[in-house]
Amino acid sequence: MSILVTGGAGYVGSHTVRWLRRSGQSVVVLDDLSTGHRCAVPDGVPFVQGSVDDPALVVDICRTHAVSAVVHFAAKSLVGESVSNPRKYWTGNVVATHALLGALLDAEVGKLVFSSTAAVYGEPETPHLLESHPKRPMNPYGRTKLVIEELLSDYARLGLRSIALRYFNAAGAEPSDGLGERHDPETHLVPLAIGAALGTRPALTVFGNDYATKDGTCVRDYVHVSDLADAHEKALARLDLVDGHTAYNLGSGDGYTVKEVLDQVARAAGVPVPHTFGPRRAGDPAVLVADSTKARSELAWAPVRSLDRIVDDAWRFHSNAR
Ligand code: UFG
Repeated sequence: MSILVTGGAGYVGSHTVRWLRRSGQSVVVLDDLSTGHRCAVPDGVPFVQGSVDDPALVVDICRTHAVSAVVHFAAKSLVGESVSNPRKYWTGNVVATHALLGALLDAEVGKLVFSSTAAVYGEPETPHLLESHPKRPMNPYGRTKLVIEELLSDYARLGLRSIALRYFNAAGAEPSDGLGERHDPETHLVPLAIGAALGTRPALTVFGNDYATKDGTCVRDYVHVSDLADAHEKALARLDLVDGHTAYNLGSGDGYTVKEVLDQVARAAGVPVPHTFGPRRAGDPAVLVADSTKARSELAWAPVRSLDRIVDDAWRFHSNAR
């Protein structure tokens, strides 16, 4: 039996493939390499280059590799791009996932873990977000992820059990395995700050320093990508107990300001991070921190890698890749 990992050549996907393999599971990766990296898939893991929006291919993979469950990462995931090109997101996320689910039903694969996001919530009404928090996504990226969660909930009636994992701010790396964050374009704070400290990227612009937070910059909940990978393994194990569909927040519950992250990067780099202060970025809430009580109690999951470990691992990955 194998686990099919769609998008397994991407950032969180490749770390999850590594994690599942280390726990002795057979994995097959399907990735179209539109944003993923072939070299992020370890030797010995069956790899198929193709789209989840190809039902015949998905059915063939499921039958050839005796797939028992799917972890579905393959997606478009840039918030800004989703605003300028929503069609790419509705097609690449919702239409493609609908095709994938049809193929899974045809292949009689009844279990799926879905890569979702805190972007499904929109502007927080409370500093710590529970899964029951109102969902008013502020961009097409978050809307497409929410619609897919609703699709999964409906498809439970067709025999597909699923869990959506809503990541807060994924960061960090596994430098000893050559795995880390390599988006193009890069929009995320930690790799941009490291690039600025290394001199491989321009000085960072901090988006706003007039928020009602302790130092005026935005607060986020950073979670190590390997802690996220661990959650996927635990969610796969939980699927047999799920009554249809459910969702879990994945975050540490601790918030750090942008300035605190820059200080942490400066400690790892041994030099300050060159930065300037600019205007707020549209759509950025002041504070976004998870309440992951549900994942802690039902999945027995807890993130164990703190912000200094996240930044140290990312620093080693980016300085090795220089
Ligand atoms: N930031 C800067 N300058 C930059 C980049 C980021 O100041 O050049 C700030 C942002 O304003 C924010 C923080 O750093 O306060 C983190 O920003 P990221 O872009 O790294 O992450 P986001 O919090 O915007 O987004 C993350 C995920 C999204 C997801 C969202 C959920 O990356 O996929 O959380 O709200 F949608």
